[in-house]
Amino acid sequence: MYTPAQDRYQHMTYRRCGNSGIQLPMLSLGLWHNFGDITPFETQQAILRAAFDTGITHFDLANNYGPPAGEAERNFGRHMDTDWRPHRDELIISTKAGYGMWDGPYGDWGSRKYLIASLDQSLKRMHLDYVDIFYHHRPDPDTPLEETMGALDYIVRSGKALYVGISNYGPEQAKKAFTMLREMGTPCLIHQPRYNMFDRRPEQGLTDVLREEKVGCICFSPLAGGLLTGKYLNGIPAGSRIDHDPRFLKPDSLTEDNIRKTRALKAIADARGQKLHHLALQWVLRDPVITSALIGASRPEQIIDNASIVNAPPLTEAELRQIDEALA
Ligand SMILES: NC(=O)c1ccc[n+]([C@@H]2O[C@H](COP(=O)([O-])OP(=O)(O)OC[C@H]3O[C@@H](n4cnc5c(N)ncnc54)[C@H](OP(=O)(O)O)[C@@H]3O)[C@@H](O)[C@H]2O)c1
Repeated sequence: MYTPAQDRYQHMTYRRCGNSGIQLPMLSLGLWHNFGDITPFETQQAILRAAFDTGITHFDLANNYGPPAGEAERNFGRHMDTDWRPHRDELIISTKAGYGMWDGPYGDWGSRKYLIASLDQSLKRMHLDYVDIFYHHRPDPDTPLEETMGALDYIVRSGKALYVGISNYGPEQAKKAFTMLREMGTPCLIHQPRYNMFDRRPEQGLTDVLREEKVGCICFSPLAGGLLTGKYLNGIPAGSRIDHDPRFLKPDSLTEDNIRKTRALKAIADARGQKLHHLALQWVLRDPVITSALIGASRPEQIIDNASIVNAPPLTEAELRQIDEALA
């Protein structure tokens, strides 16, 4: 029986998500890695509990998280039954559809058929009646945007999701999607782009659109999957993501350019008396348009460690300039 920490809301900072009624913790937890069939249930449980005890109220999933695809949601359903049912109303739980999930023409991309069927499957796997946020996971070049956004609007009206979001959309497509959703009466709550010191694409127009449209932003992989912890500076440590689950983060990510930049960034963090991954998290959160940094964790200690940024001194203009130079 799990009893959450009494003081869990006293240490986290919460930020308003666009102009909505929802506030999200500065750090949210994603279940992309470490919640499939290669991670013991007890490890998963300890990670989720550490997150909630630290004030992290948002767990992010997708239909295809595993391995195998669907397994993270299936495991989360078991965690719902053991730990989370009494705390459902304290949690923001999200899932997504947009990548290949089942065979045939109806299990991928952005059709109304795929999104609605996929969310029904996700709810069954997670033992939930509804999710708080349902995302379209990536833009679909072939399905009319009206159809995809119409499906999101329908999903909210049917009570299967409270809010909707989009992920991996560029600035122009995002703006069109926001306008359509607003006109249908289902404003977009949030955008989920990849954003970290090594991937600054959202700065090329997307963050301006989000500011103008007053839509929230949760950035994924703020530590570049662990590269921005500095753990790979002297090779590939045992038990790290590249060592134990290199499906997406592969040894060839350790380029000379990345290593050089990581060393330069680490020197800046050292001068601030902090760890590189704390600097990396504070850096993505420096712009208030970013509502939350969506981290992953392979063990509970990482969550507690990362949450210490809540009290770290803000980055100065001089430090931000040094970071730009290190990344040039
Ligand atoms: N919308 C999309 O298309 C999309 C795509 C990708 C991800 N996401 C979301 O974003 C979430 C996070 O992605 P991510 O896992 O790549 O995020 P990340 O925060 O960049 O990387 C997390 C990894 O970094 C390492 N780490 C974290 N804190 C650490 C610490 N204090 N000390 C040492 N190592 C630490 C751990 O890896 P080790 O295994 O090395 O310990 C951890 O699994 C996903 O779970 C998912 O919800 C969304």
